[in-house]
Amino acid sequence: MDAPSDRAIRPWVLAVSCNKGGVGKTTVASNLAIYLRALREDLPILIVSLDDQRTLDRMFSIGALDRGAKNLKHAWAERSFSSVIRLGEYGVHYVPAPTDVSRLKARAGDPHALRRLIDHTEWGGIVILDTKSDLEALTKNAFQAADRILVPIADHASLDEAAKVMRILEQSRIGADKARVLLTLVDRRTKLGDPARPLVETLEAAVAENGWSRYETTISRSPRVEMLNSGTDKPKSILHHGRGTAVHGQLRALAEEVLVELDASGRLAAPRPTRRAAAPRLKPSARTRKPKPKPPKSWADELFGVFFNR
Ligand SMILES: Nc1ncnc2c1ncn2[C@@H]1O[C@H](COP(=O)(O)OP(=O)(O)OP(=O)(O)O)[C@@H](O)[C@H]1O
Ligand SMILES: [Mg+2]
Repeated sequence: MDAPSDRAIRPWVLAVSCNKGGVGKTTVASNLAIYLRALREDLPILIVSLDDQRTLDRMFSIGALDRGAKNLKHAWAERSFSSVIRLGEYGVHYVPAPTDVSRLKARAGDPHALRRLIDHTEWGGIVILDTKSDLEALTKNAFQAADRILVPIADHASLDEAAKVMRILEQSRIGADKARVLLTLVDRRTKLGDPARPLVETLEAAVAENGWSRYETTISRSPRVEMLNSGTDKPKSILHHGRGTAVHGQLRALAEEVLVELDASGRLAAPRPTRRAAAPRLKPSARTRKPKPKPPKSWADELFGVFFNR
């Protein structure tokens, strides 16, 4: 196998992973891609599903789903995403999901294969990997490829599964410090124990006790967000359709935290902001300032307009 060249363009890779199903991995991965794209339009975002659920394909495909499209399986065979990447909705690029992940898993025994594949692609931006709820070969490839592993935790069961992720990271010498927990589906009214204590506080305490790093942002459980995903139609972007929810602000805050990590990595230097671009950076102090109203010209203008007017 070829070693990646030192001169190759290397993206910053974020894997979203938890062995517990239904903790919000796909919702966070897909919407984070959209918020990151809106916040940093200079930064290409590529999202890749390592799952054969086709949620991401449905969300990002422009027009009808192309079931015959080249997908992750072809990329794996070609050892590059180059011929498989598609420009999707919201300016986010995506790789169509494989139709049968079990076959691909059988070919993913080398845990470094995905890292090499990404390096061969020379993607000068962010790659987001949405993993399946398992700790099998493709997920282990995601761990090796990732610069950051975002581990959603929604309850005590997912806390146990996060511990398994951390153990694998230590055993495979990646290090648990690559992982950062995100509390998801938080409902502050849920209380447990005697005396009753909010679930979210017990989870925060357990994360701290384990010495795991955690995003400051937490993602609330929201019936409106659930609705956006549950139609038979395309799952809808929270940025475009969930502006009234707390989750909208939380995803933006999470994207900002991720961009701080990216900038700290020094991997993809941010361009120096121009005077015109400085205000749309959505610094907290700018939140209350209203920009001059302007008709949106492109999807990017439209997205920033969405931010400004919240
Ligand atoms: N913040 C939220 N508020 C309410 N419902 C949510 C939220 N985030 C996700 N959901 C819902 O929870 C369910 C599981 O979400 P999602 O598919 O993102 O989880 P997952 O971890 O990717 O699941 P799987 O393990 O099946 O891949 C979906 O029905 C989704 O609509
Ligand atoms: Mg999922």
